[in-house]
Amino acid sequence: MNWPDIILILLAVNLGDIITGPTLCHASQKRQKSECQVRNGWADCSHLRLKEIPPNLPWNITGLDVSHNRLVELPPASLATYPGLVHLDVGFNSLTKLEDSLCLTLGLLRTLTVQHNEVHWLKEKDLSNCTNLTELNLAGNRLKLHGDPFAALQSLTLLDVSKNDLKTANLGTRLQLPSLVTLILSSNSISTFKKDDFYFLSNSSSLRVLHLSNLTTLAKFEPDCLKPIASIYELVMNGSKLGPSLTSKLCTELSGTAIRSLSLQKTQLVTLDNTTFKGLGKTHLTTLDLSHNSIAKIGDGSFQWLSMLEVLSLEQNNLKRLTKNTFNGLRYLTRLNLNMALVKSRTSSYPIIDDFSFQPLGALESLSMEKTAFRNISVLTFAGLMSLRQLYLSGTSCMSLKIITNQTFVSLAGSPLLMLKLTSTAISRLDPGAFSSLGNLTTLLLGNNSISQTLTGKEFQGLGQLQEIYLSNGNQKLILSPMSFVHVPALRTLMLGRALTSTLYMNTSPFKPLSNLTILDLSNNNIANIKIDLLDGLENLKVLKFQHNNLARLWKSANPGGPVLFLRGLRSLVALEMDFNGLDEIPDEALHGLTNLQELSLSGNILNQLRDSVFNDLRSLRVLRLQKNLITSVRKEVFGTALANLSQLVMEKNPFDCTCESILWFVAWLNGTNASVPGLRDEYVCNTPQAYYNRSIMEFDRLSCLDMTPFQALYVLTSTAVLTLMVTSLLVRFQGWRIQFYWNVLINRTLGLSDASSGEGREFNYDAYVIHAAKDKTWVERSLLPLEAEQGYTFYLQDRDAVPGDSQLESIVENMRRSRKILFVVTETLLEDSMCRQFMAHHALHQVIEDSRDSVVLVFLEDVQDYRLSRCLLLRRGMLRPHCLLNWPLQRERVPAFHQRLRIALGTTNRVQL
Ligand SMILES: *[C@@H]1O[C@H](CO)[C@@H](O)[C@H](O)[C@H]1NC(C)=O
Ligand SMILES: *[C@@H]1O[C@H](CO)[C@@H](O)[C@H](O)[C@H]1NC(C)=O
Ligand SMILES: *[C@@H]1O[C@H](CO)[C@@H](O)[C@H](O)[C@H]1NC(C)=O
Ligand SMILES: *[C@@H]1O[C@H](CO)[C@@H](O)[C@H](O)[C@H]1NC(C)=O
Ligand SMILES: *[C@@H]1O[C@H](CO)[C@@H](O)[C@H](O)[C@H]1NC(C)=O
Ligand SMILES: *[C@@H]1O[C@H](CO)[C@@H](O)[C@H](O)[C@H]1NC(C)=O
Ligand SMILES: *[C@@H]1O[C@H](CO)[C@@H](O)[C@H](O)[C@H]1NC(C)=O
Repeated sequence: MNWPDIILILLAVNLGDIITGPTLCHASQKRQKSECQVRNGWADCSHLRLKEIPPNLPWNITGLDVSHNRLVELPPASLATYPGLVHLDVGFNSLTKLEDSLCLTLGLLRTLTVQHNEVHWLKEKDLSNCTNLTELNLAGNRLKLHGDPFAALQSLTLLDVSKNDLKTANLGTRLQLPSLVTLILSSNSISTFKKDDFYFLSNSSSLRVLHLSNLTTLAKFEPDCLKPIASIYELVMNGSKLGPSLTSKLCTELSGTAIRSLSLQKTQLVTLDNTTFKGLGKTHLTTLDLSHNSIAKIGDGSFQWLSMLEVLSLEQNNLKRLTKNTFNGLRYLTRLNLNMALVKSRTSSYPIIDDFSFQPLGALESLSMEKTAFRNISVLTFAGLMSLRQLYLSGTSCMSLKIITNQTFVSLAGSPLLMLKLTSTAISRLDPGAFSSLGNLTTLLLGNNSISQTLTGKEFQGLGQLQEIYLSNGNQKLILSPMSFVHVPALRTLMLGRALTSTLYMNTSPFKPLSNLTILDLSNNNIANIKIDLLDGLENLKVLKFQHNNLARLWKSANPGGPVLFLRGLRSLVALEMDFNGLDEIPDEALHGLTNLQELSLSGNILNQLRDSVFNDLRSLRVLRLQKNLITSVRKEVFGTALANLSQLVMEKNPFDCTCESILWFVAWLNGTNASVPGLRDEYVCNTPQAYYNRSIMEFDRLSCLDMTPFQALYVLTSTAVLTLMVTSLLVRFQGWRIQFYWNVLINRTLGLSDASSGEGREFNYDAYVIHAAKDKTWVERSLLPLEAEQGYTFYLQDRDAVPGDSQLESIVENMRRSRKILFVVTETLLEDSMCRQFMAHHALHQVIEDSRDSVVLVFLEDVQDYRLSRCLLLRRGMLRPHCLLNWPLQRERVPAFHQRLRIALGTTNRVQL
């Protein structure tokens, strides 16, 4: 790990802290709320067991929801605190009345919801100041109206008084509610609509919608009862008890109204005849919902009155037969819903659709017949559907659909059919030219069938416009051949999931003609072997579903001939699904070039170690699924690119190895990412090492990794320091003098303090300044002084040559300077001489350092320890050149040799050298 990484991790730690903040807030939000929540001016105080309006909400709220509480009254004073209220919901409480000054207090109130309370008496003055109210919901009370309680509601557009056990639709005596648009009177105990019941709405020209559902006691429509509300556009009577005769009466009353949409679900209609809808002849009805009845028979011409009808639903009825006259007159119908309208019970026979049944429906664009049962499709069944674009036959039970021949849909030859849905219709075979009549078809849905055959290509003859084929699922046993799709070159979507029984290992790929293919599903087919060129040429392929196959061997490096890189060239690929394929390897190059890939699914494989570069091209990846593999480490080298722009990661259920090496980078990424990682806290669990076993990887202590590097460095540093110190001290202890000496010499030379060079030129008066102990005088006189005569040397001897009267010290300094060498006659006695020790020796040392290591000559008359030498003379043998160290021989015959060496020692020039 290097320093940038550590900085990143530190950043990530901080980011993580910031990110966990909102998460905690979110968690607290999920808790049962214990106080009102105010948002955007709305106060939600529902479900709080309140007994009164909370007094301490922001004064300027515009909406207040106190529904589902225990309020028994609504004193306007308690609401005076919130004069800006526009919406008030007091539903599901126990209010028994509305206070008359409520609207006065809340002058801006627009919608008031009082549903599910116990409001009983409602008087005119209760709402007298509610002129600004636009919506009033009083559903689910026990209303008893007194006078004209709604008379003041000038602005009201919606009034809901359903579920109040009202016996009449008459809500007032005077003309009122001029702005009303929607009136809901459902679930009351109205049995008769009297002539003048809706008189109070005569001036309500805006009225459009009337709900009269669940009127289970309804028995009578008095003539002209709907006259005052002739402007209604939509009438809903679902669940009201009408039956054929009352329906017919209703339609009569609707005659001449503006009605456009009529919903009659569950109205206990069992038959329709040519009179039922007669009253609607003088309307512009466009939508009729007759679903969820038990209509068994539709008499010929029943719909002849509905010439303007565009949408008709007959869903969930019990029709036995459609004839060529059933839909007579529906010339503008565009959508017909017959789902579950023709059904076969165990005892009954198959319903029958006569030839030309749909002939009258020349404008029909969508025909839905899902989950119907009928005997057969003839060559004329769908004749006349000149505008049909969508035909839904899924779940249909019909003998003719077992084997689709070139005759099955021949009746649709004249239709511009675009979509044919034949899902779950128990098809077992497609004959050649099965859809050849449907030249404009773009979508063919054949999923969930039992088609068992080799697709030779002829099945799809004539489908040059086809863009989508679904053949997935069910019991399909399809065998592809190189020609399978030659007739559908426009194909963009090909779904073959759980549909193939054959191998796809063939010399010419069946997908070769499909250069426009965008989505290919080959999942769940147990495919084990394909050629590398199976997908070649699919340059537009965006989605490839290959999960639940057996492709592991193809990607093994041990595969004979190497891994099969079958994704090569799929440059447009956006989504790749290869889950559950037993993959244990991804070859280096397998995913290369997939630079547009946004979604990669590899879950349920046995992937463990991924190569560093496998994901390197996946720069656009947004979703990565790798859950349920054997991945132990998530390292930056492998996942860095793939995770860079991710919005979702699904990687749980892997045996993560929670060590710094394997997981540190991943944990830091998880802490810093904005991507969603579902189940992160519980499902991402460490498997190793033992210390983290079965713990969430989010518990992994990143700091333990962080500290390691500095500690390591520190350790190295300290131990180096200690070692260095030890070595140094040892060195100093045993060789310190040498270092110091050489250092001094070096400094002197370097700084030019030395006058050695000039010294060589200076005149010396003496060849040597001889220092000896008094006791050794005899030796000097006998062995040294004779050389003056024999060899011509001049020595300076303190006791011989010193000029009496001169200062002793000055004389020493001066004469040493005038001598080329300083010669010590070293004996133990000398070492004890204090003069010698303290001054001469010091000066000699100075000379050695400043001038040359040659300038001092030691003549040992006896053996002297080096340490004694250094202690007393501040000199060591090592400081001097070897030829300057002389030993007085014990044997007489070696004396000439000694003299020879002495001559060399005295003769050497004081050269500048180390
Ligand atoms: C309500 O008033 C507070 C200050 O008293 C203000 O911060 C807030 O935006 C106001 N809300 C609305 C919806 O006006
Ligand atoms: C109705 O609203 C207007 C402002 O839109 C207000 O001036 C008037 O007083 C309100 N009417 C009542 C009865 O509060
Ligand atoms: C409120 O209603 C009363 C009648 O109940 C009426 O006299 C008064 O003028 C109304 N006040 C406003 C502000 O509309
Ligand atoms: C009618 O009653 C049924 C059951 O009684 C109920 O499910 C349905 O919601 C009610 N419809 C209306 C519009 O009240
Ligand atoms: C309605 O059908 C009956 C026979 O069921 C027939 O006599 C009558 O003429 C038909 N009326 C219309 C308007 O089609
Ligand atoms: C339909 O198929 C039969 C053989 O199954 C063939 O004889 C006939 O010519 C085909 N009809 C068309 C219109 O292709
Ligand atoms: C198929 O569509 C073309 C236009 O794309 C149209 O001209 C042709 O009439 C349509 N075929 C049928 C049978 O309607």
